[in-house]
Amino acid sequence: MRTQVGIVGAGPAGLVLSHLLHRRGIDSVVLESRTREYVQERVRAGVLEQNTVDLLTEIGVGERLRREGLVHHGIELRFQKRGHRIDFHELTGGKAITIYAQAEVVKDLIEARLAANGTIVFEASDVSLHNFDNAQPSIRFRQNGDAVELACDLIAGCDGFHGVCRPSIPQPALAAYERVYPFAWLGILAEAPPSSGELVYSYHDRGFALLSMRTQQLSRLYLQCTPAEDIENWPDERIWKELHTRLAREGWKLTEGPIVQRSIAGMRSFVVEPMQYGRLFLAGDAAHIVPPTGAKGLNLAVADVCILANAITEFYRSGNRGLLDKYSETCLRRVWKVQRFSWWMTSILHRFDADNGFDRRRQLAELDYVTSSRAAALSLAENYVGLPMEIPHPGT
Ligand code: APR
Ligand code: PHB
Repeated sequence: MRTQVGIVGAGPAGLVLSHLLHRRGIDSVVLESRTREYVQERVRAGVLEQNTVDLLTEIGVGERLRREGLVHHGIELRFQKRGHRIDFHELTGGKAITIYAQAEVVKDLIEARLAANGTIVFEASDVSLHNFDNAQPSIRFRQNGDAVELACDLIAGCDGFHGVCRPSIPQPALAAYERVYPFAWLGILAEAPPSSGELVYSYHDRGFALLSMRTQQLSRLYLQCTPAEDIENWPDERIWKELHTRLAREGWKLTEGPIVQRSIAGMRSFVVEPMQYGRLFLAGDAAHIVPPTGAKGLNLAVADVCILANAITEFYRSGNRGLLDKYSETCLRRVWKVQRFSWWMTSILHRFDADNGFDRRRQLAELDYVTSSRAAALSLAENYVGLPMEIPHPGT
């Protein structure tokens, strides 16, 4: 097989990149280890920044998102049983977020790729990268048991945190920066109408809780737990009891419903530098991980591939590698600002067992400040709805 850009991973990063390249007349092949059904059903994040909504709309996959997505103009921070709304609309001049499950984004992108005769190889196994430190990179894999070699000009590593691309880079060439948090999130999907019209982030002595949603009939809720928690120790009654306690607010009640999905996910901040090596370019979770508190994972993946698609387009149009050579540097400016915000949201909202009374009062003061100072609220709002995209153009 031969293509211009070999893409490993059919998550948001790989699929958005493939479709962006297609719209610019650049051919790609996406290799995905899982089945189409699996990647379309995976329960992941659900908050899209305005930039992401605008991009998906621009590339022609925004129709169902516009119909079914829930547009929110603010969030609530809750502490000491009181709620404080951060008004994105007022603070950011009308910017909003949209609630739309990542799995739905992936479904829409796969449909668009296949409708455009794009090539996505599902259940590709034993993927390995070759010669990406020179001008003849290739990707080997097995399809239905047959060994295949995909020759390409460039490789995009969009295969997530546990993928094969980052580890394929000689480790001395990379520097990894990581913070693992001393807690995890227990997440549930419940068939219950969301008890709040907007997201509720709640700070509580017993630990953090988050009320989110997927549709008007499907609630998405999370609660902080220990990293080694066994989901078997969390029967429905215990989950709901904790959520009622941690989300309690005067004059408000949490609506329960059948829990249809539950999982526990650890939390870390992670960045690898640089995000490129020779003709291999890492994007999305393959290069960085953020704690979910800031709802940034998907949005940062999309931002990376917007920058990468632009650089690849310049490479093919003019032979100029300038933007490709600066890909990592350009992405990392945004990556680290998003890491900072995600770390900050995590640090003010979670209970850290190593903290003492001073730390807890400091957290409450931070929450009091961000809900009483316009400057502080604006800082949260402009990061949450998404910092402006800074995509360099040729010659910059
Ligand atoms: N070969 C082929 N495909 C692979 C391999 C491999 N060796 N390893 C992983 N993959 C696939 C995974 O099955 C997955 O479909 O790569 C894809 C990576 O997708 P994501 O993990 O969704 O990563 P990304 O596209 O960067 O999107 C980041 O996804 O995990 C969430 O919270 C994260 O919201 C963020 C978003
Ligand atoms: C979600 O709806 O899954 C969600 C929302 C906000 C977050 C994290 C997850 O910060």
